[in-house]
Amino acid sequence: MDLYEYQARDLFEAHGVPVLPGIVADTPEEVRAAAEQLGGVTVVKAQVKIGGRGKAGGVKVAKTPEDAFTAAQGILGLDIKGHVVKRVMVAGGARIAQEFYFSVLLDRANRSYLSLTSYEGGMEIEQLAVERPEALARIEVDPIAGITLETATAIAEQAKFPAELIGKVAPVIVKLYEVYVQEDATLVEVNPLVLTEEGDIIALDGKVSLDENAGFRHPEHEALEDKAAADPLEAAAKALDLNYVKLDGEVGIIGNGAGLVMSTLDVVAYAGENHGGVKPANFLDIGGGASAEVMANGLGIILGDPQVTSVFVNVFGGITACDAVANGIVGALAKLGDSADKPIVVRLDGNNVVEGRAILEEAAHPLVTLAENMDQGADKAAELAFAAK
Ligand SMILES: Nc1ncnc2c1ncn2[C@@H]1O[C@H](COP(=O)(O)OP(=O)(O)OP(=O)(O)O)[C@@H](O)[C@H]1O
Ligand SMILES: [Mg+2]
Repeated sequence: MDLYEYQARDLFEAHGVPVLPGIVADTPEEVRAAAEQLGGVTVVKAQVKIGGRGKAGGVKVAKTPEDAFTAAQGILGLDIKGHVVKRVMVAGGARIAQEFYFSVLLDRANRSYLSLTSYEGGMEIEQLAVERPEALARIEVDPIAGITLETATAIAEQAKFPAELIGKVAPVIVKLYEVYVQEDATLVEVNPLVLTEEGDIIALDGKVSLDENAGFRHPEHEALEDKAAADPLEAAAKALDLNYVKLDGEVGIIGNGAGLVMSTLDVVAYAGENHGGVKPANFLDIGGGASAEVMANGLGIILGDPQVTSVFVNVFGGITACDAVANGIVGALAKLGDSADKPIVVRLDGNNVVEGRAILEEAAHPLVTLAENMDQGADKAAELAFAAK
């Protein structure tokens, strides 16, 4: 889960990372009041989960509360790469002497943590990495040892911080690593980390991604979720513990196992080319236990998508055998009753496939068509989706 900048700022503050005061506001009037409260120069910052806000006009310096009001009028409602700004943060204005970069992230390829640090700020980090890779210190962090003051000092030295700054920057790096570990983050990025005219090191902009797999250790993280921004179907699926991602097509997809579901998306998209260009409507992996309840939940979500005009259930029986899945489908349709109203193509293969098909044939549900194999099932589902469009 990616956090908004103001949420990252709050986490930083809670862990003792130096930040400037920040107040969120949803209207220009609230922004003016926040600027009055903070006093002095403020910066009005768009809160969107996308980079490059500054360049898009989403970060504005305001000398007075009235300036902040005007800035907010321009920023609220602004479309930044498809993200419409609904909220801003009014931050204290820093007198910046120098800008730096620091991040620590999960390095999946190396099964480790990686820290990226640069003494040279003011440039996009991706650009810096390509154009001046020597200016970016890439240092592996041992997850067991973590970042101690010694490691942080070594990181700052390798990033070419001058001696007089190392003693100031290293403790901030230690604190940022604390945020990373204690909050179970997969990314903590500060761009820019600044040195102020007063000589303080401050995290001026923060990006934090939290590992949702560790959510059980952090009940407090749930409050950070932006429920209003989530797709309603995805939110409903999440509440049912389903692995569902809404897509933009017409053929609802249910399968077991992420790999099978992904290849089903490909096969349906390919079949759709012969049927008016219909596409998969979603990703839904019901996992190992395809019980009637899980199947009903999955079908319920997919049938609730008004864009869906047909459904393709593609299951390979393994530990959960095909007869159990077939019973799941029959039970799900009984459970859903009249709310199941779109054609459903079912392809079963693998463990107990004969028994599974027999169960569906016997039930002879008017909405269900049995497919011989995956390609034929995809083609049938695409055909039905196009016909019902
Ligand atoms: N509180 C502040 N006081 C003074 N200047 C600021 C403040 N916040 C940001 N700035 C200036 O604005 C620039 C852009 O701000 P920021 O890094 O927050 O946004 P961004 O980098 O454009 O957005 P993103 O990081 O999402 O791509 C900073 O590099 C800094 O120079
Ligand atoms: Mg930034």
